[in-house]
Amino acid sequence: MKRYLITSALPYASGITHLGNVVGSTLPADIYARYCRLLGRETLYVCGSDEHGVAITIAAEKEGVSPRELVDRYHQANATALAGAGIAFDVYGRTTDPLHIATAQEFFQSWLRKGLLVEREDDQFYDEEARIFLPDRYVEGVCPNCNYDKARGDQCDSCGAYYNQLELKQPRSVVTGQTPVVRRTKHWYFKLDAFQDWIHSYIEGHAPSWKDNVVQQSRSWVKQGLAERAATRDMQWGIPVPVPDADGKVLYVWFEAVLGYISATKQWAEQQGTPDAWKTWWQDPETIYTAFLGKDNIVFHTIIFPILLHSRAEEGFILPEQVPANEFLNLEGQKFSKSRNWAIDLVQYLRDFPEAQHVDILRYVLTMNMPETKDSDFTWRDYQARTNNELAAILGNYVNRVVQFTIKNFNGAVPARTAAEPDEHEQALQSAITHGIESVARNLDAFRYRDALTEAMNIARAANKYFNDTAPWKAIKEDPARAAHALNVCLQTIRTLSVVFAPFLPHAAAAMQTAVGEPVHTGAPGTTQDVWTSAGVALLPTGRVLHEPGILFTRIEDSVVEEKIAQLGDQKPSEPTEPAEPMITIDDFMKVKLRTAVVLQAEPVEKSKKLLKLQVDLGTERRQILAGIAQHYNPEQLIGKTIVVVANLQPAKLMGLESQGMVLAASNDSGVLTLVQPSDVGIGPGAEVR
Ligand code: 2FM
Ligand code: ZN
Repeated sequence: MKRYLITSALPYASGITHLGNVVGSTLPADIYARYCRLLGRETLYVCGSDEHGVAITIAAEKEGVSPRELVDRYHQANATALAGAGIAFDVYGRTTDPLHIATAQEFFQSWLRKGLLVEREDDQFYDEEARIFLPDRYVEGVCPNCNYDKARGDQCDSCGAYYNQLELKQPRSVVTGQTPVVRRTKHWYFKLDAFQDWIHSYIEGHAPSWKDNVVQQSRSWVKQGLAERAATRDMQWGIPVPVPDADGKVLYVWFEAVLGYISATKQWAEQQGTPDAWKTWWQDPETIYTAFLGKDNIVFHTIIFPILLHSRAEEGFILPEQVPANEFLNLEGQKFSKSRNWAIDLVQYLRDFPEAQHVDILRYVLTMNMPETKDSDFTWRDYQARTNNELAAILGNYVNRVVQFTIKNFNGAVPARTAAEPDEHEQALQSAITHGIESVARNLDAFRYRDALTEAMNIARAANKYFNDTAPWKAIKEDPARAAHALNVCLQTIRTLSVVFAPFLPHAAAAMQTAVGEPVHTGAPGTTQDVWTSAGVALLPTGRVLHEPGILFTRIEDSVVEEKIAQLGDQKPSEPTEPAEPMITIDDFMKVKLRTAVVLQAEPVEKSKKLLKLQVDLGTERRQILAGIAQHYNPEQLIGKTIVVVANLQPAKLMGLESQGMVLAASNDSGVLTLVQPSDVGIGPGAEVR
């Protein structure tokens, strides 16, 4: 059985990842991973922090902290921010992890053994004032390929060329601004040239199914002819070169960061308690590997990484099958720039827009503007227009109208279908659904996200049309059975929409599924049930009780986007979040007495939609507790369950009844609530919970 390995370029842990990074790789990879999981495919989505290299040391110097302090801070901040954006990695590893260091050193030693590394002295730029060699971004100059005047020592941001630093014209040290001198230093050079023919056939073999931008960049690089590349650098921060007499030498970040995908998989496998499981993902021909990245990372993933993997072909390492690289996203017509505060960083966005719906809105707008074939532009006006005219007016409005109408006219339960043949309106909707689901899938399989999402929204458009055409508000008076049938169809369509939108809008999808009483399936890690194939099938049973979803998307006012536009250019980028809530001491915590309790009786509370009255056994006593869980549990479901209660809460009166404690429950951003329950059997009532 095929399995799907998905990686997205490891963000540098040198700052908060901005929307350009998100739209380029983490978001498309997440959408694809969720889609694969919803199809029931065995899927692993791997990412993590890139924590070495000059990007890190320069940022640390600027912030006046050690590289270690910097990466610890931003690794955590980015992991949290990306999770906040609904990016559902199976693992978010880091390249300072000992497992990664060992993996990279082991690869290096295998290259040494195979004679793929040449040790020799060569010329490098050296800053006499700072008394350091100037690797990579420590030197800037004019690009030898396109004459861009801020080209870096190893790569040009303008044309993507990747060269040896001595080719840079008019070099200057980033540290002191001085013109560097050339000095000799020892390094280990990887014989990329030994793979010239092999990489040519690898690229040509994949060219028919790769995106144009990926093929063009890779071909042009191979055409120039591969040359030996230094795989080491003169630096303190990095992975030490694992040979004697290599003090002050570390692995060049591009020769180890790409291996971070493998070591993050090892980190995942260890966490699972199956340390060897990484091999199934990296050394088994049944694995289909897709690497997501931005255009500045193409050659590292179509040339360097495949060569590094192929260098150990005898161990069965697989190669990237697809490398769907995106172009760049601009902001309000200009390049993102942190230093000019022309950026939207994710932490700031999540702080400014803390509601779950705004995560989906961001994902929606970014996906609709994904730079798939050329650079694209994010504007706050477009953000507002798409929220108001598409998410709120089409999708949100549909769900709201259908559920409210059912609550009002059919006691909030799925009404019955009629046996009659589908009328023309239903046929039109059914055909839009069948065609829509297929198109979403076809486009996702081809990494065309904008088209995929447009097709999903077209299903919502067709659903609105069906609701309008069948006019149930009229039919309910003239022919209630016909109105009931129409509403049944509309509710089934909410389920359909919840599945096709799930890869893009996981929060809205969860809210829609909860509204129609379905289990939540948003393609989260660890889920392998195929719900995609039956997305268009009418599976909701008649009589199923609905739950009010609330407003899925609220309109964005002019003032909000005007403020956002005004903020550009005049503010500092955000620091990693301080904990929003004050910390408590262990003594504070120990004041709360948590105990397990077994539910003996449960019944609704008269005139309350939310409350259930529970009688619980606390081991030494019986208590009555009122819990706000009626919209999530039927009373009979609860009897016999072991739950956790706050046992020393002052009694309170609710709806005229005494409540002698509180039950613990977890709820997600979509309002789905579940009681906290000890998972091990053998915990009776009255056990202390700490
Ligand atoms: O360009 C970047 O942001 C790099 N940190 C991407 C690394 S991808 C992989 F090699 F780890
Ligand atoms: Zn250039």
